[in-house]
Amino acid sequence: MTEAFVTGCGRVVYDDVGPRNDGPTLLLVHGFPLSRAMWRAQLEGLAATCRVVAPDLRGFGGSTLGGWPGGGGASLDRYADDLVALLDRLEPRGPVALVGFSMGGYVALALERWLPGVCDALVLMDTRAVADTDEGRATRLKMADHVAEWGASRVAELMRPRLFAPQTPESVVAETARVIAATNPAAIAAAQRAMATRPDSTPLLPLVAKPTLVVVGEHDAISPPEEMRAIAEAVSGARFAVIADAGHMAPVEDPDAVNDLLRGFARSL
Ligand code: MLT
Repeated sequence: MTEAFVTGCGRVVYDDVGPRNDGPTLLLVHGFPLSRAMWRAQLEGLAATCRVVAPDLRGFGGSTLGGWPGGGGASLDRYADDLVALLDRLEPRGPVALVGFSMGGYVALALERWLPGVCDALVLMDTRAVADTDEGRATRLKMADHVAEWGASRVAELMRPRLFAPQTPESVVAETARVIAATNPAAIAAAQRAMATRPDSTPLLPLVAKPTLVVVGEHDAISPPEEMRAIAEAVSGARFAVIADAGHMAPVEDPDAVNDLLRGFARSL
């Protein structure tokens, strides 16, 4: 079921499927510059196990940028605020696992920094704890400054080579490119500026005190497996899993393997 609510002058759209009982809820937070569409296989495949909720972050998919004029007011903390407002609305009766994919993982770590009690468990998927290098930040800010003239389809072309494993079918690659090309350039600029200012979360990792699963595609070129293994080693008791033959977009490249991991994790809560 697709729902929407208004928060901080923005309209946030989300999918909410599965049983509303005292079992677990998986809150799936998408990456950049994507939307809840990337979680279609998880929404379909996990709804028999637990409640599954997937929002569009501000400006992406069906959600509006709202009161972030020109994208200037965006920050990972503000995306995290929207998740808190969403959880208030959901009133989950059981444990909540926040599943943060890539940029969604940065938002999950922002929430972990300020309000660690909001979620009971964490899945960090194809994401990073470190801040940008100076070079990486400059590349982001260049895109933020120019995306209005470039258009989102150029962003899709720029990102495509780093998102997938070599063996991923062209239909999967094309579907993600289509989602990126349809994204509002102002949302892309806002998110790039938000990610460029994110702090190094490495010191936060040993403070995470909740069940944690760390998942990465074997060929992830953006958040490489060795970097994600280090994240898992820094979080006490965290589990680490590698999705074979997948790249950065593991949830769409091998949805069955990702769903098996998420199903097992949800059942363990
Ligand atoms: C993502 O998939 O969300 C992005 O690649 C993250 C990033 O740009 O650092």
